[in-house]
Order: sequence, then C-alpha cells, then structure tokens
Amino acid sequence: MKILLTGASGQLGRCFQDRLPEGWQLHAFGSAELDISNKSQVEEIVSSLKPDAIVNAAAYTAVDKAESEPEQAAKVNTQGPQNLALAARAVGAKLVHVSTDYVFDGQGNHPYLETDATNPLGVYGKTKLDGENAALAALPEAAVVRTAWVFSEYGNNFVKTMVKLAESRDALGIVSDQRGCPTYAGDLANALITLLKVEASGGIYHYGGDREVSWFEFADKIFDVAVAEGRLEKKPALTAMTTEQYPTPAKRPAYSVLDGEKIKSLGVALSDWDAALQDIIRKF
Ligand SMILES: NC(=O)c1ccc[n+]([C@@H]2O[C@H](COP(=O)([O-])OP(=O)(O)OC[C@H]3O[C@@H](n4cnc5c(N)ncnc54)[C@H](OP(=O)(O)O)[C@@H]3O)[C@@H](O)[C@H]2O)c1
Repeated sequence: MKILLTGASGQLGRCFQDRLPEGWQLHAFGSAELDISNKSQVEEIVSSLKPDAIVNAAAYTAVDKAESEPEQAAKVNTQGPQNLALAARAVGAKLVHVSTDYVFDGQGNHPYLETDATNPLGVYGKTKLDGENAALAALPEAAVVRTAWVFSEYGNNFVKTMVKLAESRDALGIVSDQRGCPTYAGDLANALITLLKVEASGGIYHYGGDREVSWFEFADKIFDVAVAEGRLEKKPALTAMTTEQYPTPAKRPAYSVLDGEKIKSLGVALSDWDAALQDIIRKF
C-alpha cells in the first residue's frame, strides 16, 4: 500500500508514521512540502505519486485563532480536503480525512451518532464541517473520521500544557462543565490504518476515547499519573471552573461525546486513553 500522508509534523501525522505497517510505503509531507490549500500543488504531487491512499492529518487546529482568521481556516479545513478528494478521485486513490467533535453544538446528552444533526459553534467547527461535506461530495468513497480532545507525546496538547503549568503553579482552575472523550493520537492512527486495511466504505465515522470526562477530571487524572510516574513532585490544588468563568474567543460544545459503535463494528478498538497517558507522560 502506497500512502501519501499530509500534515506529517502534527500529532496525528507523527503518530501515524510511527505505526506504519510493515510493507507499506509512506510518502510523508509537512506543510512546507505540501500545502493542502494549494490546489495545483496537490494535483501535481498526487498525480505524480499515484498513491493507493491519501491520509489527511493536516488541519488548521487553532480553535480560538480561527475566530479572527476565518479565511485561512477555511482554506486549510475546507478547500484542503476538497483538493485532496478531487486529486484522489483523479488517480483512483482512497482518502481518509479527519474531522472533529466541534461540528456539534454540544447541547445533546447522549453520545453523538454519525447521523445526528450538526451545528458548529465556531469558525473551526464550521470550516471542518464544510470540509467533510466538500470531501464527501467530491469523493463519496472517502472515510471521514471525527475525533476529539487529541493528545500525544508530540506537539502541543492539553496533557503537555497541564504538566508544564504544574511545574510553576501550585493551584489551577480547570473548566468542569465541558465533557468529552480524550483520544490518544497513536490510537487514532491505528484506527485509520485499520480502516484502510478493511477497506471501510465511504462516509462518516466517530472515533474517540473509551471513557468520557470533563476537562477538570482529565486534568485531575493527568496530575495523578504525572506524580505517580515521578514527572511532578506534587499535584497542584485544582478548582473547578465554569465555561462562563473562563471565556475564550471560540465557543466550545458543552457535551461532545462521540458514539464509536459504527467504527467498533469494523474491529477498531476505541482509544484506551488512560493507558496511553501513562506511556506518554513517561516519555515527556
Ligand atoms: N487536536 C485536537 O484536539 C483535535 C480534536 C478534534 C479533531 N482534531 C482533528 O484531528 C486532526 C489531527 O489533529 P492534530 O492534533 O494532529 O493537529 P496538529 O498537531 O495541529 O497538526 C496539524 C498539522 O497540519 C499542518 N498544516 C496546517 N496547515 C496546513 C496546510 N495548509 N497544508 C498542509 N499542512 C498543514 C500543520 O503544519 P504546520 O505546523 O507546519 O502549520 C500541522 O503539522 C485534524 O484534522 C484536527 O482537526 C484534532
């Protein structure tokens, strides 16, 4: 299997490269080598490589910054997947594209199904939703995998931020009224590999952690593990905060748990994020 990977320097991109199955051939592109918003560059690279599959791990992921840069976010999150889907179609390649729980407004109280109504609250979620639709319109056989609360040993993420903050602060306030499922990018990478192996049919799939928490509960768990692993001397005092007390430029869904039954039926295990947390904190 010849794979073209975009966003190779991001969390998912790096985890995907670490897990490439034996015998698969990988052509990994960072944003400097392949800008997915550049249609002619995408066409040129895809048509010359003729991959069997494109894995799109590239995205504009700065949720708050997107509010003041909507055009740039749309170029990467909407035109990017459209460019990739059109180029994949032209060479007969599969496409696995990754999207987000932020396509939902978070007003639900049961895990979101792939068929549930979307209603993004901010620019990031809106541009990602438009990207899903653009990719599927150009290539209905594409697999679009929505995920959530991604962390890893690479890049910037909530786990790293918490551990770093605790090095200099004795007390932290953490939002406790937003709930979701943390997802280890390595598990997500394995899920994408399985989708390619089983030749999953086109459409949307939800993939996330196997247990829901609030950001407060997630932080509490991170500090327990960091202390147990000797990464922190002591746990900071934690105060639960409301979203209202911690305003951000982009609104975030209060409840964004994704129902993973559809992807599980293909033999994909949901992310055991508790186990991953121990592993990656050891690696920090
Ligand atoms: N992180 C999360 O919590 C989260 C939650 C839900 C869904 N997701 C989705 O999961 C996927 C993977 O996220 P991640 O956490 O791995 O993201 P990440 O670490 O921010 O990586 C994204 C990568 O995309 C690259 N990129 C940005 N603009 C590009 C462009 N125009 N062309 C090519 N590459 C470009 C970035 O490269 P530069 O650094 O060089 O700009 C970066 O390496 C994304 O689709 C994201 O929307 C993430």
